[in-house]
Amino acid sequence: MSWIDQRPDDAMDGAFTAVAPERVISVDAPIFREAMARLGAAVHIVTSAGPAGKTGFTATAVCSVTDSPAMLLVCLNRRSNSAPLLAQNGVFCVNTLGAAESGLADMFAGRSGVHLEERFNVGEWMTLKTGSPVLASAVIAFDCRTVEVKAVASHNVIFGAVEEVRLGPAGPALVYHERAYKPV
Ligand SMILES: Cc1cc2nc3c(=O)[nH]c(=O)nc-3n(C[C@H](O)[C@H](O)[C@H](O)COP(=O)(O)O)c2cc1C
Repeated sequence: MSWIDQRPDDAMDGAFTAVAPERVISVDAPIFREAMARLGAAVHIVTSAGPAGKTGFTATAVCSVTDSPAMLLVCLNRRSNSAPLLAQNGVFCVNTLGAAESGLADMFAGRSGVHLEERFNVGEWMTLKTGSPVLASAVIAFDCRTVEVKAVASHNVIFGAVEEVRLGPAGPALVYHERAYKPV
């Protein structure tokens, strides 16, 4: 059997559903990481606030899913301090960073030893519908409510319905490529 077995899905009217194999065969992590380092990706700070508290982390694993309804996904390592907070709050905001914000990206990646709520002492923060922190200087903010979470190996794939979009100041965006921040 091929590793992805495609079959018609009646409910999707002719669309195809990928079926996960019983045993996943893949290349080793180091070569995959090296390959992914060459894949440039926009840098975001994903935030969340609610009953479980306020948090934020730097992420490049963000992807659009559909536009009707507007949905995106974020992949979050379950060992991250942010994982339980996002799960309990049920809301999050994807803040896409501008070219000048590599310092914030490093801080929200835990590289400067600043923890969770303290990370919000830098930058100007506001809120939209869900109450998740929105960085005023972000190029875009996608304010989301979680609609589904799928655990895949070490990560949670979190699907969010975009309840509000804020277009921030236009300008070059921040991209992570070959393990360095670059303006685009
Ligand atoms: C450029 C960059 C991109 C990252 N992308 C992700 C990501 O998509 N998902 C993720 O879980 N962690 C990602 N990380 C790592 C998290 O930002 C980091 O593990 C997390 O913030 C750890 O801090 P905490 O556990 O103290 O919150 C990325 C880090 C950097 C520097």
